[in-house]
Amino acid sequence: MAEPSITIRDNGPYVVTMPVEILDAKGNPLTITRERITLCRCGASNNKPFCDGTHNKINFESQVSA
Ligand code: FES
Repeated sequence: MAEPSITIRDNGPYVVTMPVEILDAKGNPLTITRERITLCRCGASNNKPFCDGTHNKINFESQVSA
């Protein structure tokens, strides 16, 4: 199993490699069965908190460097 990590994708989502516990606003854990997920960073997904590819349609631009 891979080590947990979060990668910021240029002009796209956060790529999360499990296992990472993700909680909703009330502290309830989201049920995630996949080894890797993408979280919306543009704010336009229709499936928040997950990325649904809408960032491509709205030409979301953001490049973050460490
Ligand atoms: S980052 Fe992909 S829909 Fe928002």
